[in-house]
Amino acid sequence: MSRERGQRPRVVACLAAGPDGKIATVHGEAALGSREDRSRLARLRRGADAIVVGAATIRREDPPYPPEVTVAVVSRSGRLPVASKLLAGEVRAPRILAVPEDLALGLLGPLSEVRAAGRLDVLRAGRGGVDIAALLAELGRRGAREVLLEGGGETLASFLAAGAVDELRLTLVPRLVGGREAPALVGGGGWSLAEAPRLELVEVDRAGGELFLRYAVLPPAPGSPRGRRGDGGD
Ligand SMILES: NC(=O)c1ccc[n+]([C@@H]2O[C@H](COP(=O)([O-])OP(=O)(O)OC[C@H]3O[C@@H](n4cnc5c(N)ncnc54)[C@H](OP(=O)(O)O)[C@@H]3O)[C@@H](O)[C@H]2O)c1
Repeated sequence: MSRERGQRPRVVACLAAGPDGKIATVHGEAALGSREDRSRLARLRRGADAIVVGAATIRREDPPYPPEVTVAVVSRSGRLPVASKLLAGEVRAPRILAVPEDLALGLLGPLSEVRAAGRLDVLRAGRGGVDIAALLAELGRRGAREVLLEGGGETLASFLAAGAVDELRLTLVPRLVGGREAPALVGGGGWSLAEAPRLELVEVDRAGGELFLRYAVLPPAPGSPRGRRGDGGD
């Protein structure tokens, strides 16, 4: 894998979903897991050098992040609320907004004050979407070796499509929130069976009604369409 070649940090994705695959309700409520699930996430956060999250999660859920951990938000639109806990709260480590380089600069206007105050760095990389490899290279340059990818489903899909997830930690919670429009574990456009990222179940832990599943994300099979394109072998 690329990390052995020193090209990018190791990426561990961690999300909680019900058996229906949903990670939040149609109204955006995402606190699906128990206290045990939250304390496992907190442990992963403490061990991470950087956290990556999608802009929709900041806009809908506005989670509090530890002030001392680097947090990068990916966005095509550049819409990141200045009143979010991420930007308005205590900050002792970089906050990075990663946007495509073809995003019109004027759309970042509402962020000019936080940028001028040194509370937000902007990384422009990729066209039409953030170049995930470039984002990880930037985090690596800033010293990150372990990146915690907190979702949501659209962002996890972007990272999987880029072959940039090493491990998936999935908490299977005993709730069915349903809803056609509710976000699922993996969004994006989907893959054919031949192209779908393959997982290897490496650990199962049970506490209360929850299952804590740990999967290794396998590199694409050499003969598969993704393998031939070289996805995941970055
Ligand atoms: N249960 C859990 O473990 C868990 C974890 C995380 C989140 N959630 C919940 O899930 C919901 C959000 O999930 P979601 O799947 O709808 O959204 P998401 O992944 O949080 O964010 C999607 C947004 O991220 C940006 N994005 C993703 N990939 C990108 C790329 N390659 N380049 C540029 N920008 C990119 C885009 O931002 P723009 O829209 O700004 O262009 C996109 O609309 C929230 O309700 C949240 O609370 C649950």
